[in-house]
Amino acid sequence: MKKTDHEVKSLIREMDKTIQRYIAKRKPITLYGPVQYFFDGGGKRLRAVLLLLSSQLISRNYKKSIHAAAAVEILHNFSLVHDDIMDQDDLRRGRATIHKKWNTNIAILSGDVLAAIAFKALNQSPEKHIQKLVEIFSEGFIGLCEGQALDKEFESRSDVREADYLKMISQKTALLFSLSAQMGAILGGARKSQEKALKEFGYYLGMAFQIQDDLLDIISDEKILGKNIGSDLAAGKKTYISILASEKDQGRGMVNIFQSLTDEDIRKKTLDEFRRYLISSGVQARTQKMIDKYFQSALNRLQGFKNTKTKQTLIQLAHHMWKREN
Ligand code: IPE
Ligand code: IPE
Ligand code: MG
Ligand code: MG
Ligand code: MG
Repeated sequence: MKKTDHEVKSLIREMDKTIQRYIAKRKPITLYGPVQYFFDGGGKRLRAVLLLLSSQLISRNYKKSIHAAAAVEILHNFSLVHDDIMDQDDLRRGRATIHKKWNTNIAILSGDVLAAIAFKALNQSPEKHIQKLVEIFSEGFIGLCEGQALDKEFESRSDVREADYLKMISQKTALLFSLSAQMGAILGGARKSQEKALKEFGYYLGMAFQIQDDLLDIISDEKILGKNIGSDLAAGKKTYISILASEKDQGRGMVNIFQSLTDEDIRKKTLDEFRRYLISSGVQARTQKMIDKYFQSALNRLQGFKNTKTKQTLIQLAHHMWKREN
């Protein structure tokens, strides 16, 4: 294992301890049981790590950023709990989603309380930054909801173009990455230009991450991904893949037919066929090119920073995301 892996693991451990300070020992268990279950399920903790490393890139002491890191991670987890209800998915991090294991009411409330706890955690940040952080964080939360609204709206539309899709994912996903890096920069005491570069670094990482997520929904394996495969196609989601595939009649036909399939065997066969189509039509290669472009843009944003150990760790984080399988 690389030294930087150890470093990131220890950041995660500390941030997880901070999360526990906000949820452990609270009652009732009917609410905090599912919340605890969700965090225990794992998760890559990417947004928190991004925030902590961005802070560390500017000034060595990241401790003042730990509550904000917990806040972004908690908000992210809130968004997943509600997203799984909205997307009707029953698998997350390789386990049953909260609304499946318990019920929708419990999942709604677990998400609600997480959103509130996220602000409570953020409020523990150094006082001189609070006002700015709350503004960025709330605006990010609002944007995420707007993105999720577009994501749902697009399911029943057939006129969604690439630009609409990019706008939608910039809100539902890239914004949270971008604000994580930006908040880390602010807490670290960054100059305006550094704050902007890190904010953009996060934004590009987030864009790459979501397009990759759309691809993994189709080409990955349920056991590796820990989420339902083909779920986006079944829901009629407008993903980067479905938009490119729908440019041609054959691809559009396959995308459209998938939604009506209920038989598990036929579904599997059609998905295999679609995977082959993505390769033969060049859609997969075009998608990968887009992912690469965004990751490259992200890395370019780090160029102006001094070459420190933390910068190397941030570069590694980007590469780790680039080749992710779940
Ligand atoms: C899933 O995010 C939601 C998307 C934006 C695609 P992650 O893949 O970061 O979820 P966890 O926290 O690691 O499970
Ligand atoms: C992720 O969208 C965006 C948010 C959760 C806000 P997805 O719906 O693609 O995420 P997964 O695939 O369920 O993790
Ligand atoms: Mg989903
Ligand atoms: Mg969704
Ligand atoms: Mg997805």
